[in-house]
Amino acid sequence: MEKVLNDLMIAVKDSINQNNFVKLTFSKPKDKRSDLKNVYVKMIIIKENNWLSFTYKHSTKDIVKNFTVEDALLQLTELLTTSFFAANLLTTEMDYALLANEKGSSKLIKRAVEKRAIPERGHDHSKTRLINPANAWWFSLGIADRQGNVLPSMQFKFKQINKYVEILDGLIKQIEFQGTVKVVDMGAGKAYLTFALYEYLSVNRKQDVHITGVEQRPDLVEKTNQIAQNSKLTNLQFVEGRIGDLAVNQMDVLIALHACDTATDDAIAAGIKAGARLIVCAPCCHKQIRQSMQPPANVLPMLKFGILMERQAEMLTDTIRALIMEKHGYKSQIMEFIELEHTPKNVLITGIKTTKKIDIEEIDQKIESLKKQFGIKKHYLETVLG
Ligand SMILES: C[S@@+](CC[C@H](N)C(=O)[O-])C[C@H]1O[C@@H](n2cnc3c(N)ncnc32)[C@H](O)[C@@H]1O
Repeated sequence: MEKVLNDLMIAVKDSINQNNFVKLTFSKPKDKRSDLKNVYVKMIIIKENNWLSFTYKHSTKDIVKNFTVEDALLQLTELLTTSFFAANLLTTEMDYALLANEKGSSKLIKRAVEKRAIPERGHDHSKTRLINPANAWWFSLGIADRQGNVLPSMQFKFKQINKYVEILDGLIKQIEFQGTVKVVDMGAGKAYLTFALYEYLSVNRKQDVHITGVEQRPDLVEKTNQIAQNSKLTNLQFVEGRIGDLAVNQMDVLIALHACDTATDDAIAAGIKAGARLIVCAPCCHKQIRQSMQPPANVLPMLKFGILMERQAEMLTDTIRALIMEKHGYKSQIMEFIELEHTPKNVLITGIKTTKKIDIEEIDQKIESLKKQFGIKKHYLETVLG
């Protein structure tokens, strides 16, 4: 038994490392009167780590327990030693059947099978995703394999992409667009989120849409244009340019996600000037306010810690951004976003253009009071808006 158990454990471990684990089941209870009838095991990914989820099937209830791979292997040994005579491991390419009996003999039968698909690795509580990784562009963007399975190293990114689309879904549903929706995504970068928005609007919502991604790096512009063209996404294009230099006369949606420091302000200003109905931005760094901030003496003990000073600058910068957007007729909101791997920033500022009467004086007072309290002369967004 020891040798076959060991061989099965190696097969389980390899299938997890190679991401071709499909399922593992335990059957044939050693004690026929046992309440535990079977155990089903699936692989799940939680926060980028592989886990094995065991469902213990009792006669009247199911109990689910998740184990790290190491603990799962201990569990496997325990179940085969004490509770079950049989275990079947299915991978995308092989079947392994461990069979033991009362007399103590055991064997492991291996059989090659026709290639199976990798199952969904989501946690049971995960929601249905709005983005379909089987769409060709996700392979070209390096998010999924050719079969449409999200690569293990891209699971977190894919979650972020979906979270973004979920938020946009909630916002876009509040707006009635007329005709083609013109979107400008400033600082598009590798454009995962730009393609995601295109897919959501054009494929899911069947909306006429034209998306322009603006990016200062020519290599990224060339690459993302190539992917859009190869994927026949005719209304998605990328242009090389600097956010602050770009004059856009008309747009319905302005997106700026993780563009550096005041590039976010340049983008918001462009959106406001072009009359965008929706503004969505995820600020990146907040140097402009941090460098010009002179906090009041009574909060200095708190701000002597660099990280808190940084957070204070972030709160001020983004609160004033939201207030300036309100002043220009936007119902603004600041909410939690999912952080990127290259920045711990996880804030999203959104604004939906309304026709509600605005008390500009009151908003100005709020802005001035905040600035005065923290010794700030000018917020860059005010400067660009003139
Ligand atoms: C951190 S990446 C974010 C990419 C993408 N928006 C996302 O959130 O996944 C920021 C991108 O913005 C670009 N960028 C920063 N400042 C810019 C500016 N002033 N004009 C154009 N692109 C800019 C950078 O080159 C980079 O590709």
